[in-house]
Amino acid sequence: MNSNILVIGGTGKTGSRVVKQLQNRGINPRIGSRSASPSFDWDNKDTWVESLNGIEKMYVTYYPDLAVPGAREAIESLTYLAKELGVKKIVLLSGKGEIEAEACEDIVINSGVNYTIVRASWFNQNWSESFFLDPILSGEVALPMSDVLIPFVDAEDIAEVASTVLLDDNYNGKIIEITGPELITFKDAVNIIAKVSERTLHFYDISLEQYVDGMRQMQIPNDVIWLIEYLFSHVLTNPNNQKISNDVENVLGRPAKTFKEYAEDTVITGIWYPQKTINKK
Ligand SMILES: NC(=O)c1ccc[n+]([C@@H]2O[C@H](COP(=O)([O-])OP(=O)(O)OC[C@H]3O[C@@H](n4cnc5c(N)ncnc54)[C@H](OP(=O)(O)O)[C@@H]3O)[C@@H](O)[C@H]2O)c1
Repeated sequence: MNSNILVIGGTGKTGSRVVKQLQNRGINPRIGSRSASPSFDWDNKDTWVESLNGIEKMYVTYYPDLAVPGAREAIESLTYLAKELGVKKIVLLSGKGEIEAEACEDIVINSGVNYTIVRASWFNQNWSESFFLDPILSGEVALPMSDVLIPFVDAEDIAEVASTVLLDDNYNGKIIEITGPELITFKDAVNIIAKVSERTLHFYDISLEQYVDGMRQMQIPNDVIWLIEYLFSHVLTNPNNQKISNDVENVLGRPAKTFKEYAEDTVITGIWYPQKTINKK
């Protein structure tokens, strides 16, 4: 059954899982992304109306991050367009301890449209579907702030919470803070991945300056470097981000997934094994 639900970022880390979970409930949401049909592009407002047409509820994940310049304006324009087109509810994925993300939350909260804010800590899936995957594959992980405690949360849990609050209006007007069930360091995370994958992974504690220099040498685009540096220097070290919340359990009635459970589920996909070099004769 086609539905009147739109999932913006529906092919991404949490969005693709929200789509799957809605499909498991017999709901076929529309996907909002550049590769979807109709195509939705944050950088081209002309694409938005077609994606939003006939939509009543939407899950919004902004890309690359609500903290980047331009995000606030984009969320504002989208929220008011959604209201104009008759959208009744917005579930916004936000980041814990990000002042810029809170400014985006406020736009949705004050829009007059029903809403739920899902504020998440760093995702486990950054190790398997994002910027920490390449170092894991190389066997050499060099990161700053190796002693900071992080309540990594699983994208499956975020998606289950997001699809629950999307469908259940009892969560309207609420801010749900979701974290994993434990605080771990980068080094702990690497050790757990090494153990479940039976690989030797070396961890190096470096300074933020060295990390940024490394990204420059790899010719990573400046806006990506800016975002990663911001996440390390402002988000990771924010004391509010080093706390565990029980909201996953409160919403789902079961504990949040541990990093070890995530690692055990992920290792069987083969994603953490470098492809073997094939000898060409
Ligand atoms: N990663 C974390 O640890 C974390 C933690 C807390 C909060 N968050 C928040 O989660 C949100 C999503 O971050 P993420 O890292 O998980 O990304 P993601 O959802 O995995 O992002 C990829 C998705 O965005 C779409 N996309 C990329 N560029 C687009 C564009 N110009 N227009 C429309 N769609 C576009 C992609 O589809 P197409 O390629 O088809 O366009 C894909 O669906 C961010 O706002 C971030 O602040 C992330």
